[in-house]
Amino acid sequence: MKKLDLLYEGKAKRVYETEDETILIVSYKDDATAFNGLKKGTIEDKGSVNNRVSNYLMKVLEEQGIPTHYVQELSHRETAVKKVKIIPLEVIVRNTAAGSLAKRLGLSEGTNLKRTVLEYCYKNDELGDPMINTYHIEAMELATKGELEIINEYAMQINTVLKEYFSRIGIQLVDFKLEFGKTKEGQVILADEISPDTCRLWDKATGEKLDKDRFRRDLGQVEVAYQEILNRVFNSFDSLQEQWRPKHVER
Ligand code: TMP
Repeated sequence: MKKLDLLYEGKAKRVYETEDETILIVSYKDDATAFNGLKKGTIEDKGSVNNRVSNYLMKVLEEQGIPTHYVQELSHRETAVKKVKIIPLEVIVRNTAAGSLAKRLGLSEGTNLKRTVLEYCYKNDELGDPMINTYHIEAMELATKGELEIINEYAMQINTVLKEYFSRIGIQLVDFKLEFGKTKEGQVILADEISPDTCRLWDKATGEKLDKDRFRRDLGQVEVAYQEILNRVFNSFDSLQEQWRPKHVER
């Protein structure tokens, strides 16, 4: 598969067209931003870690019945994905209070939430991705009621699968962000990435942060944290039960 025209360049990825109009190639960059692009930097090998970790997780999810955009890993940085129209929502799933929720509600980081919390942000950089609710989503026709039901169901299922998977590799899945897209046929599928950029991942034993918060909050050892996640995912492969070992894993 070959990259043709650059279709879109985002903060962390470039997206190219291919000869197949239903397939795009995503190329992950090492560029890192936070606070809606206000803070900029580079995290060495982040592109490769995020690409490989995200593909692994998407494969686990596919095998558990969640449709995703994943098609094929082309290299450590590049992946072929199904072309979709991104639904302009950031779907945030939370198991533990942290980040903006901890701040907004006055909870200390690490407080266990008695139930899983779903939040939505309107994906719009100019507005700084404001938080919205289901009424706004329908009023602005960002997604239909039916699509939203599917998104909610997938988000909860994804949480169940990923919480268990990460736990088995010694990590607490605190919260994460998902994006969904719609295929030409109208099917809602999981898109974008699931990586240390888009999740809060804490070491279960020590509570150490192993995600982008190290960059956002200038905690240091950013690259080490990303590599640790990569190592946990790939080094644990042989010791896990079959359901956590997707077929055709590139190593
Ligand atoms: P928050 O606590 O800052 O709202 O973040 C919640 C989760 O969403 C956290 O795992 C980080 C992720 N996230 C993104 O992936 N992209 C973003 O732009 C933001 C703000 C958060």
